[in-house]
Amino acid sequence: MKVDILLGLQWGDEGKGKVVDVLTPRYDVVARFQGGPNAGHTLEFEGQKYVLRSIPSGIFQGDKVNIIGNGVVLDPALFKAEAEALEASGHNLKERLHISKKAHLILPTHRILDAAYEAAKGDAKVGTTGKGIGPTYTDKISRNGVRVGDILHDFDKKYAAAKARHEQILKGLNYEYDLSELEKVWFEGIEYLKQFKFVDSEHEINGLLSDGKSVLCEGAQGTMLDIDFGSYPFVTSSNTICAGACTGLGIAPNKIGEVYGIFKAYCTRVGAGPFPTELFDKTGDQICTLGHEFGSVTGRKRRCGWIDLVALKYAIMVDGVTKLIMMKSDVLDSFETIKACVAYKVNGEEIDYFPFDIEGVEPVYVELPGWQTDMTKMQSEDEFPEEFNAYLSFLEEQLGVPVKIVSVGPDREQTIERYTEE
Ligand code: GDP
Ligand code: IMO
Ligand code: MG
Repeated sequence: MKVDILLGLQWGDEGKGKVVDVLTPRYDVVARFQGGPNAGHTLEFEGQKYVLRSIPSGIFQGDKVNIIGNGVVLDPALFKAEAEALEASGHNLKERLHISKKAHLILPTHRILDAAYEAAKGDAKVGTTGKGIGPTYTDKISRNGVRVGDILHDFDKKYAAAKARHEQILKGLNYEYDLSELEKVWFEGIEYLKQFKFVDSEHEINGLLSDGKSVLCEGAQGTMLDIDFGSYPFVTSSNTICAGACTGLGIAPNKIGEVYGIFKAYCTRVGAGPFPTELFDKTGDQICTLGHEFGSVTGRKRRCGWIDLVALKYAIMVDGVTKLIMMKSDVLDSFETIKACVAYKVNGEEIDYFPFDIEGVEPVYVELPGWQTDMTKMQSEDEFPEEFNAYLSFLEEQLGVPVKIVSVGPDREQTIERYTEE
């Protein structure tokens, strides 16, 4: 069997959680491969809303196995809060959620370092989620990290060494902080974590594949936040692209099956950094209001703009996307016209490729008629308005990949599959 991968193609918050939940019944296993509690994946069904941060979005569908892979960074304190809330609402996790021993732990001092580095950057700050993501991955790459598997071997010594190193850096930065409460909750998290099954996720996943089981990998963040290919340095610290699933789970590239690329019918971004199609006018406010574009982790207002096909084409290329999924179509239901960016203007010259630096590029738009129809109750593609079909055809022609799923609202049920011939 092969693994399928679902990835955000923009700057995150495309609706990955919702679609993973919808697709889970078709798989035996769902696995997260990168990121950590900087993610906020929202699911809505049966009148309930859940936001997942470290736990894969396959956790609500029956007794599927969910895996937190080696590429993920895990904060035991936040994990405990997230898992206990789910258990309190009647979802038993302990048997079904497996955690890689090779996943790195976010220490309390990583969170403080995140804040200290941001403060030191001043106006150039990234606008991180403040969860310690960058410092944890930095320690991983510099071979100073503490891993989940270390909890079982000589843990206190490893923790103390990492903490001492961090405190030295914080001293150099003259950054004031109070660790006591953070540390207390964190160690409670470590104790809680011990109740879960720690695994070698590379052995587990490859074993499952050999046994004919199907696996869906759930990306976090989005391709434009990738550490290598995103709008650096305004990115996250992991590989959010398709290849991240290989390194973040121990899956060989030739085991990859379908790659689902997910995008909003428009575009958003949280935090700092260039965003060529950002709208600063009433239309931008309208998208924000209609789309409830506020961060599910930080509550921050998301910046809103039109869809950027130059960036999307680039994401499709580096991810090898085979199927597209368009989210939040309903947010544009009332618009008379819709714009799509098809090229950038750089120093007066038009380019249709994603350049080294997108700071200051000007978007070149084409304008399409809106569908001005409420799509939120639609059940099948036969009900799609003509203008909506024209928008989809335009996107498919520009992007060269079929749009197979359309989402028309936040609920699990508001999801329409397209069966059109390829
Ligand atoms: P993720 O991080 O990619 O999982 O996305 P988030 O959960 O951060 O953000 C997506 C938001 O849009 C959530 O509040 C979802 O409930 C909501 N959402 C998902 N799909 C749709 C849709 O088709 N229409 C509308 N209106 N909201 C949606
Ligand atoms: P999901 O999985 C949107 C952004 C932050 C910041 C940058 C770096 O819900 O789509 P970090 O804390 O990772 O060091 O922050 O990345 N960011 C996200 N934006 N959705 C996310 O996750 C994000 N995770 C990080 O806002 O600009
Ligand atoms: Mg999110």
